[in-house]
Amino acid sequence: MTLLVTGGAGFIGSNFVHHWLAEHDELLVNLDKLTYAGNLGNLQSLAQDQRHVFVQGDIADTALVAQLLQQYQPRAVLHFAAESHVDRSIHGPLDFIHTNVVGTCQLLESVRAYWAALPADQQQSFRFLHVSTDEVYGSLAPDAPAFTETHPYAPNSPYAASKAASDHLVRAWHHTYGLPVLTTHCSNNYGPYHFPEKLIPLVIHHALSGKPLPVYGDGMQVRDWLFVQDHCRAIDRVLQAGTPGETYNIGGWNEKPNIEVVKTLCSLLDELQPRADGQSYAAQITFVKDRAGHDRRYAIDAGKINDSLGWQPVETFETGLRKTVRWYLDHSDWVSSVTSGAYRQWVDLHYGG
Ligand code: NAD
Ligand code: DAU
Repeated sequence: MTLLVTGGAGFIGSNFVHHWLAEHDELLVNLDKLTYAGNLGNLQSLAQDQRHVFVQGDIADTALVAQLLQQYQPRAVLHFAAESHVDRSIHGPLDFIHTNVVGTCQLLESVRAYWAALPADQQQSFRFLHVSTDEVYGSLAPDAPAFTETHPYAPNSPYAASKAASDHLVRAWHHTYGLPVLTTHCSNNYGPYHFPEKLIPLVIHHALSGKPLPVYGDGMQVRDWLFVQDHCRAIDRVLQAGTPGETYNIGGWNEKPNIEVVKTLCSLLDELQPRADGQSYAAQITFVKDRAGHDRRYAIDAGKINDSLGWQPVETFETGLRKTVRWYLDHSDWVSSVTSGAYRQWVDLHYGG
């Protein structure tokens, strides 16, 4: 029994690889291009684990993917690989089209050819699990009900549009060819190995480096936050028990305005690693120019996965955030290794030096 995971050196993918190998005894082939967001350091503790096979490569490389499928005969493909940062998609959308749209389509075609040649019983039990996002649903009014799986698509950023396109491809490969697909839509994740271009790790890193904590616009944009290991458990559950062709929303029931998230992080840091001058890290909060087309509110109704598959998050926002801050304080070497070179160029480009 083997799984093929794409993007398993990134934030959620690497957390999933750790989760899977801790919970299951099964070979896991990890295909990752190692873009700026992919980091083998996330998988260092698995270096001697024979159940983890890492392959550097692009999901759009059909010859490589076909060879991996033939060689390892996976029972499922879990598709995490993507360009994932909204701000980068605003600066340069084409990488997002390459990986999220064309790459997903190439991957689907490679997987379809492999799946079509499997014996009937293996065809039936095979799964292609596509990891998508709540951003495909667009922005919610302040009092609107949370996104259910039937909420209309209204993606607003190049990133969200590219993920929406990939969702449609996955759906069509099920409807037209019968490929047994599952799609998940998760809200904002946070936790270990989160690349410090995203709000929570960026604020922790900037706070500890004495830099401004950039809050876009008025800071009242609302996101729903889920601890990454709860997301991994949800994906595990959907893979085991989800119905092919169905979509599942995954969220933490933790709607928070950004400014509240930033202030909570400052309080945790004040407690766990106080500033030398005795001031609060909140003194570093700086309101900056808003993100273009910034979605005002996301909220996930996770009722379906709770009712049909019995999944619910283990961590509250308070317990998950405390674990996260502790992880970053204990892993300053990891932060240093990912915040050199290309990372600095990004911060200079986006935040203006
Ligand atoms: P990430 O940017 O941290 O990691 C993406 C990984 O994909 C990296 O390891 C990168 O090297 C790899 N990759 C990129 N292009 C590739 C290609 N062409 N071929 C092979 N590998 C490639 O992303 P993440 O935050 O871990 O997100 C993982 C998935 O979850 C994405 O599909 C994202 O859309 C989705 N998602 C993320 C969140 C979140 O809050 N981070 C929430 C919901 C859904
Ligand atoms: O909702 C799920 C999505 O969550 C995933 O699909 C994306 O891959 C993931 O990156 C994340 O997208 P966001 O744009 O919500 O995440 P980000 O951490 O970039 O921003 C969170 C909020 O914080 C958002 O409203 C923008 C704001 N923000 C972000 C940064 C980087 C700031 O105010 N300042 C910042 O410097």
